[in-house]
Amino acid sequence: MKRMKQTALILALLVGMSANMMAQQNQRGPRQAGQRNRGGRAIIENIMTRTSIRSYTSQTIPADTIEILLKAGMAAPTAVNAQPWHFIAINSKEKLAELAAENPRAGMLKQAPLAIVVCGNMSKAMQGKAQEYWIQDCSAATENILLAAHALGLGAVWTGAYPMDDRVASLSKTLKLPETIIPLCMIVIGHPAEQPQPKDKWKPENVSYNEYGKH
Ligand SMILES: Cc1cc2nc3c(=O)[nH]c(=O)nc-3n(C[C@H](O)[C@H](O)[C@H](O)COP(=O)(O)O)c2cc1C
Repeated sequence: MKRMKQTALILALLVGMSANMMAQQNQRGPRQAGQRNRGGRAIIENIMTRTSIRSYTSQTIPADTIEILLKAGMAAPTAVNAQPWHFIAINSKEKLAELAAENPRAGMLKQAPLAIVVCGNMSKAMQGKAQEYWIQDCSAATENILLAAHALGLGAVWTGAYPMDDRVASLSKTLKLPETIIPLCMIVIGHPAEQPQPKDKWKPENVSYNEYGKH
C-alpha cells in the first residue's frame, strides 16, 4: 500500500513537472498570429532574393532539413483548410536519374540530391467547381518550400508538371501514383553551385489602384 502511494506521488510530480515545462515552452514558443515579427525585414529580403537555382554541388541534404522543407510546404494556406496534397521527397540517386531522363526541362535533376514532387490529392480536394482550388493550394505550398530552401542556403527550382499531360503521365508512372494523386510540379533542390542575380520584376504598370488602369 505504502509503495502504491509512493508511486502515485512520483507520477503526480512527473506530470506536474512536464506540464510546467510545456507552459514554459509555450511562453517561448512560436509567434502568435498578429504578433509583430522582429525578423520581418529578413523575411522580405528572403522573398526578394530568391531565384531559380539549376546547378548544385554533390553535397546531400539531411533528413531533418528535408522535414523542415516539407513542414514549410504544409504550413501554406488552403481553401477551407482542406490540405489536399501529398508530397513525395526523392533522394534516391537512381530515381533522380530516372526522372531526369524522362523530362528534358528538368536536366538539373542529374546533379541534384533532392526533389520534392508536390501533388494534389483528389480524395481530399473539395467537390465540384471548387475542386480546382487544389492547384492554388499546392502552388502556395510550392512557393513556401522554395522560400524555405532559400532561407536555409539551398537552391531550388520549380519544374512544372500539371496541366502538361505528358509530364503528369511520366511522373505518375515513375512514382507509382494512384489515380487520385496528381503531380502539380517537381521542386529540384540542392546546395547551389551557381549564384545568379535575382531578377528585378517590379513593374508599376502591372498594378492598378482601386480600379483597373488607375495608377
Ligand atoms: C509553373 C512553373 C513551371 C516551371 N517550369 C520550369 C521547368 O520545367 N524548368 C525550369 O528550368 N524552370 C521552370 N520554372 C522556373 C521558371 O523558369 C522561373 O521561375 C522563372 O524564369 C523566373 O525566374 P526566378 O525563379 O529566378 O525568379 C517554372 C516555374 C513555374 C512557376
